[in-house]
Amino acid sequence: MNKPITTAEAQPNDLEAFWMPFTDNRQFKAAPRLLVGAKDMHYRSHDGRDILDGTAGLWCCNAGHGRAEITAAIKAQAETMDYAPNFQMGNPLVFEFASRLAEVTPEGMDRIFFTNSVSEAVDTALKIALAYHRVRGEGGRTRLIGRERGYHGVGFGGISVGGIVSNRKFFGPLLNGVDHLRHTHVPEKNAFSRGEPEWGAELADDLERLVQLHDASTIAAVIVEPVAGSTGVLIPPKGYLQRLREICDRHGILLIFDEVITGFGRLGSSFAAEHFDVKPDMMLIAKGLTNAAVPMGAVVCRDEIYQTFLDGSPAGIELFHGYTYSGHPLAAAAGLAALEIYREEGLLERGRELADYWEDGMHSMRDLPHVIDVRNLGIIGGVELEPREGQPTKRAVDCFLDCYENGLLIRTTGDIIALSPPLILEREHIDRIVDTLSAAIKRVH
Ligand SMILES: Cc1ncc(COP(=O)(O)O)c(C=O)c1O
Repeated sequence: MNKPITTAEAQPNDLEAFWMPFTDNRQFKAAPRLLVGAKDMHYRSHDGRDILDGTAGLWCCNAGHGRAEITAAIKAQAETMDYAPNFQMGNPLVFEFASRLAEVTPEGMDRIFFTNSVSEAVDTALKIALAYHRVRGEGGRTRLIGRERGYHGVGFGGISVGGIVSNRKFFGPLLNGVDHLRHTHVPEKNAFSRGEPEWGAELADDLERLVQLHDASTIAAVIVEPVAGSTGVLIPPKGYLQRLREICDRHGILLIFDEVITGFGRLGSSFAAEHFDVKPDMMLIAKGLTNAAVPMGAVVCRDEIYQTFLDGSPAGIELFHGYTYSGHPLAAAAGLAALEIYREEGLLERGRELADYWEDGMHSMRDLPHVIDVRNLGIIGGVELEPREGQPTKRAVDCFLDCYENGLLIRTTGDIIALSPPLILEREHIDRIVDTLSAAIKRVH
């Protein structure tokens, strides 16, 4: 038996071999921050401190950390069957998981394709959109529409439809035939909105402009995050998503929601589709899907899309697409256990109870130095800071470091601080997040 690794032993003596993702490797390796344990609302740092998790890892540990039920399910499954292919074979657990999942997805969206990440789910959904139109005899619909400031992972599909400049500029040429809607961040009109901003539904009309430019018969799908997270917590203006849906319907364009951060209770409902009462044609999910205990993503499709492939394809494989680990049994086990926790503890709705308290906490920071906007929805918060002259991002990074030193994990993107704690949080955690962050904002000049 291997003995468990202790906190002291978990400190490596060489940090060079690991090329860290989305990281300033030079800065980090000069002053590392290592996390060596996690339980419920807290991480444990390598220097033995408890760090309140203000971000649910990366928007993913919705039920908090170290959930015994999930660990036990993974262990039991690993002992029964570690891996089985799902190409022309199957394992019962993944069918069970898909069926249970379909109970919480929007009505009529009950067909689920598993991946390992959202980057893969994005590629999958874009490919399904293209193939769907082709199977229906509309193979001319090849154009994909994303949105400025959108984040859909880092595959070539995701960065092509995504709209974050630094994620795109090194990697051209990207996919052909992609266009972008304007983003919805308009602080001149909407700064310090509580919940959905009043102004901006008309920004959805940008899709009409692209239809006029390209003709609807060339457009396959539009992909957006209902609430854009990675680009700095951009809450959709009231009526925006409804209008996007109407325009897609008018022109036969598929609407894809990237629900990876809005799914599994983040807005106080199972999915943003439910919160906003707008049903997309496909939904991308991951993160909270397994409470992040085992990597897994998925594309949730309208039943009719799946049926079209079955009815419209010659006998044989209907979709030439899949991953070695699509529907991995350990991920399915973790996902079933996570769903059970969400159901038993009411975590898919819990955000609703706490949303007002959270909103008040977030907006209590509006008059702090250099704060130029505060945004919130469900249990998501964004605090935008004025960039330092000639040093963009630095003020927010300094806040991040100050918070970390003082026992709080926050996330920054540009000069925006993003917050999304686990949904098991209590009011006292909200108070601590607000107090620690407020103190950091005041200290950092
Ligand atoms: C909206 C959205 N899409 C896609 C991704 C990428 O997910 P992954 O890293 O699993 O590919 C993220 C990650 O934060 C995200 O927030």
